[in-house]
Amino acid sequence: MIAIYPGSFDPITLGHLDIIQRGAKLFDQVVVAVLRNPNKAPLFTVQRRLEQIRTSTKHLTNVEADAFDGLTVNYAQMRQACVLLRGLRAISDFEVELQMAHTNKTLSTEIETVFLATSNEYSFLSSSVVKEIAKFGGSVDHLVPPHVALDIYQCYAQNHPVSNQITTESTKPLQS
Ligand code: PNS
Repeated sequence: MIAIYPGSFDPITLGHLDIIQRGAKLFDQVVVAVLRNPNKAPLFTVQRRLEQIRTSTKHLTNVEADAFDGLTVNYAQMRQACVLLRGLRAISDFEVELQMAHTNKTLSTEIETVFLATSNEYSFLSSSVVKEIAKFGGSVDHLVPPHVALDIYQCYAQNHPVSNQITTESTKPLQS
């Protein structure tokens, strides 16, 4: 049974990796599918994200990474997959994910969405949280694989240099 794990993965986090590793035990093959989304301005190119995913999953023989355009169910049908795999972190995810699963069901009755509850230690974690921390000079070593953390630091150092010095009203120089 082939499962598609679709997403943006900008970048892949330890939370994503947790779902991939557990999915790899449940399904014969897991395809981590990066959506080429013209509506989003990503931090990393699709190619870079694929490399990050491939390096992060190289120990998993039944996991591959690919990119796709358009509807996820069409891509799943093309890959002869019958499962869409998604992680659930909180109730807020549930509302969005349930709507997506129902929508996908109207597009293809053959494809089932399977949710895995994200492991507790990653219940707060998202790619956006990782980018937010890195943008303000914080460490993301505990949130993403080491090679991804390096990519993130390099990307922000080149494109978005920031100072993580804290300025408060009380530290501003007094006006005369
Ligand atoms: O990582 P993300 O951004 O939460 O992933 C969302 C994703 C890519 C799974 C979702 O936006 C998606 O499937 N987009 C493809 C378009 C599609 O199939 N839309 C119909 C379902 S709402």
